[in-house]
Amino acid sequence: MFNPNSSQARAIADLFFWSMVIGGLIFVLVTGLVLYAAWRYRGRPGDGEPYQNPGNRKLEIAWTIAPTLLLAVLFIFTLSGMRTIDPPPGDQQPDVVVTGYSWWWRVDYPKAGFTTANEIHIPVGQQVLFQLKAGDVIHSFWVPELGPKKDMIPGHPGNTVWLAADKPGVYQGACAEYCGAEHAWMRIRVIAHPQAEFDAWQQQQAAAAAPASGELARGAELFQQSTCVNCHAIRGTNANAQAGPDLTHIASRETLGAGVITNTPENLGQWILNPHEIKPGVQMPGYNYSTAELRALVAYLGSLK
Ligand code: CUA
Repeated sequence: MFNPNSSQARAIADLFFWSMVIGGLIFVLVTGLVLYAAWRYRGRPGDGEPYQNPGNRKLEIAWTIAPTLLLAVLFIFTLSGMRTIDPPPGDQQPDVVVTGYSWWWRVDYPKAGFTTANEIHIPVGQQVLFQLKAGDVIHSFWVPELGPKKDMIPGHPGNTVWLAADKPGVYQGACAEYCGAEHAWMRIRVIAHPQAEFDAWQQQQAAAAAPASGELARGAELFQQSTCVNCHAIRGTNANAQAGPDLTHIASRETLGAGVITNTPENLGQWILNPHEIKPGVQMPGYNYSTAELRALVAYLGSLK
């Protein structure tokens, strides 16, 4: 919020700054006058009844008009800010559809036709239209450096928001509406790339997983035979459930569990054995694999770049 990286985030930061400046000046003025009056007109021995002021029309008019003008100025600032911060989508189709679930984000790229999770890639320097939906309860999508916060409401066709990033980089976000035990671990990572890099990423994500061969085949087989397939999809295989994050390119993601741990083979193994220890309340059950089975499964998932 204090480090805006798009025109809309800058408009929010400016509005916040000037509201704070105006509010701060009023605070100093009012506190100063109260302290001055308390000192200047303090009671002295033998003062008797203090002077009672029955009213002062001029003062009353002045302190009604001054705040009205001040609020009118803030209102005009706010209106002009809103045009930059949250322009309507027009008849544009969304570039990215994000759906909040307890406690992760499904991320669809309808134009390129693929699904991923939790980590959102965008081209740098472009306004990207997001459609925001909820799969279970109310969540709220917020990447403070890139734009405004928007609620995701179940049963609603979806709020829209334009986000953009001026510079390449990784922008952190989080769920901003309390949604249960792991609300705090519903993190968003937006990765902004130069256009060519983004196109390459998009092409890679749109591809189905290559058939597993050699030693990866054992891991693929374990995945297909386990209840993994009841919740997850790996495009290019028979696994096509949509209850959990799409794993087609899980190895291309930086984190697991919506940001709770970094995506390393050790962490992935721990996550499969006992996700509840890492993220209490997570919907995924733990699995009792032998060391060899776990190694095969982690190797297979790790190959899904
Ligand atoms: Cu989702 Cu808080």
